Amino acid sequence: MDKLRIQGGNQINGTIAISGAKNAALPLMACSILSQHPLHLSNIPDLADITSTIHLLENLGVTCTYANSSSSALPPLRSLCLNAGSLLSSTAPYELVRKMRASILVLGPLLARTGEAVISLPGGCAIGMRPVDLHIKGLEAMGATIYLDNGYIHASAPQGLQGADYTFPIVSVTGTENLLMAATLAKGRTRLLNAACEPEVSDVAHCLQAMGAHIEGIGTNTLTIQGVDALSGATHSIIPDRIETGTYAVAAAITKGRVILTHTQFDFLMSFFSHLKDIGVRVEEIPEGILIDATNATLRGTHITTTHYPGFPTDLQAQVMALLCVSEGTSVITETIFENRFMHVSELIRMGAHIIPQGSTCTIEGVSQLHGAEVMATDLRASVALVLGALCAEGTSTINRIYHLDRGYERLEEKLRACGAVIERIS
Ligand code: EPZ
Repeated sequence: MDKLRIQGGNQINGTIAISGAKNAALPLMACSILSQHPLHLSNIPDLADITSTIHLLENLGVTCTYANSSSSALPPLRSLCLNAGSLLSSTAPYELVRKMRASILVLGPLLARTGEAVISLPGGCAIGMRPVDLHIKGLEAMGATIYLDNGYIHASAPQGLQGADYTFPIVSVTGTENLLMAATLAKGRTRLLNAACEPEVSDVAHCLQAMGAHIEGIGTNTLTIQGVDALSGATHSIIPDRIETGTYAVAAAITKGRVILTHTQFDFLMSFFSHLKDIGVRVEEIPEGILIDATNATLRGTHITTTHYPGFPTDLQAQVMALLCVSEGTSVITETIFENRFMHVSELIRMGAHIIPQGSTCTIEGVSQLHGAEVMATDLRASVALVLGALCAEGTSTINRIYHLDRGYERLEEKLRACGAVIERIS
């Protein structure tokens, strides 16, 4: 199993190009199922989760073909052509779904396009139970018949789906995406209330519009979709990854370095950047991209509560906790989205952090220095928090089980090494 060895103490200085957003790419790939015409997605990131989704879609009969764009852009923006002209199957088997929860995103499109779907229930994961009951209730509201058997979701709508009003009792990102995709081919009007409005949800909606879907309210918590008989193909460029953007901003901050983040968008992270400024980091939108400058900064503790967009993103909670471990004073982090998203705490403590977890809240006393240690990665964002801690720690750290990292960060070592990190992958 691969591990990372990091020699801490170097500043992270330089320019980092941000890749396409994983959490937009995954539902966008599922959109291809809705049409018999090809969907071209550009700026697709090179990640294990993308490869897993390709295997899942090919198992359904979707042909997936990579192409490198001819533009001189560096690194070359990769694009993926997905063609669901002739679907072979409506079954997503356990051995494919267990690798990645986001496989649930084929449920809505398969049901809408073929009238049936048999999808393995996704397992939980390190950060919580992560049920999919809202996906199921929403599709039932649209007329689907759904039952669970032997760990599989059996869904059918032989007469097609009917437009309906569905109010989410809690905000769900992939729940919103699943129902949004299904509603584009339902008969009549669907209104999704208390819907998620993350940029990735809006990116999916914009792609569906390009495919001929009728959607109003994009970017708000109420989406109104007027179903159509069929969707066309489209070409769509995936938005930048805001979580990768925030992650490398913390890499500069925690090492008192200075980076420019390119190929990304400032307005996706207003809450996060506001907290980074409170901590004492200079954050500025400049013509080349986003400047993050922490040279000679005094990092100060702060209070953070994760919430849905546009609030502070839960996917940046672990990363900012690593930063607060070496920020002066007392900080408090409250996690409101997932019930168990503090798996990084015990590992940061092994590096010398002073963190006291109490239920959904952690109190952090900043220390002047973390120390290298052997640590264990547990989930994607917890893993990268350990990388960030190791970058500023005194001495060498070894991070085990880094396959989690490969799911969500494209060329992580390469991007960090190019900015001064002493980091190597050990197979
Ligand atoms: C998406 O997960 C993201 N994944 C997650 O990113 C992200 O952390 C999460 O949204 C929250 O923003 C993708 O987009 C592929 P939810 P999702 O449905 O959709 C509960 C990463 O690191 N819930 O918004 O699965 C759920 O348990 C990943 O990139 C139900 O109870 O999350 C959670 O407590 C991690 N029933 C809350 O809602 C349901 O049917 C929000 O979950 C669905 C969700």
